[in-house]
Amino acid sequence: MTPLYKPAALRIAPSILSADFSRLGEEVRAIEAAGADLVHFDVMDNHYVPNLTIGPLVCEAIRPHVNIGIDVHLMVEPVDALIPLFAKAGANIITFHPEASRHVDRTLQLIRDHGCKAGLVLNPATSVHVLDHVMDKLDIVLLMSVNPGFGGQAFIPSTLAKLRLVRDRIDAHLAHGGQPIWLEVDGGVKVSNIAEIVAAGADTCVAGSAVFGAPDADGGYRGVMQALRAPVALAT
Ligand code: DX5
Ligand code: ZN
Repeated sequence: MTPLYKPAALRIAPSILSADFSRLGEEVRAIEAAGADLVHFDVMDNHYVPNLTIGPLVCEAIRPHVNIGIDVHLMVEPVDALIPLFAKAGANIITFHPEASRHVDRTLQLIRDHGCKAGLVLNPATSVHVLDHVMDKLDIVLLMSVNPGFGGQAFIPSTLAKLRLVRDRIDAHLAHGGQPIWLEVDGGVKVSNIAEIVAAGADTCVAGSAVFGAPDADGGYRGVMQALRAPVALAT
């Protein structure tokens, strides 16, 4: 039995997919004030996924409103042409789905060459073997715990076993002198399941509907952000 994972710190990345888009500047300022570690920025193209969202112009527009990093999750195909645009728009992390790039190693390098942290996103049915030959080029691995395209879906339980697998790989990589790699999970993360998700190996949790669906009386998000952190055991 794998021991329960306890990160030194938990990063929470509210997904603005569930924010009020008519007040996006206010919404990202509110999550930063509530202690968010990253803004999770979902880019959908109605081709790789059946939905259409926001692009570099919106990234550039929110950039001056927050000091925390912007975590751009590309659900687009092809990928490469958007990387310079998002880097210029102020993205700090750029992740993409390996199925959407013909040359995964090149795309990871392209992201790093533009000064951003680079990551791969694995859909629920995508094997962890896609990580095999690129561990040294990854700053982050994002495991989808729903099928990408929409907020508000239910967490897929088999993600817990997959988190344990990837946690073991990352720890082995570090033990062999490799660079740190964050392990992020995206989809269906709630106050009720975040403890077991982190215990399975995640150090970074995206939460969209859980955060933006539970505003405080003053419209802020301090209450829900505290509620998400409270059940999680950290290393001491
Ligand atoms: C889904 C997106 C997620 C989404 C998560 O394709 O990648 O980031 O916003 O939303 P919740 O937390 O509501 O499942
Ligand atoms: Zn996402």
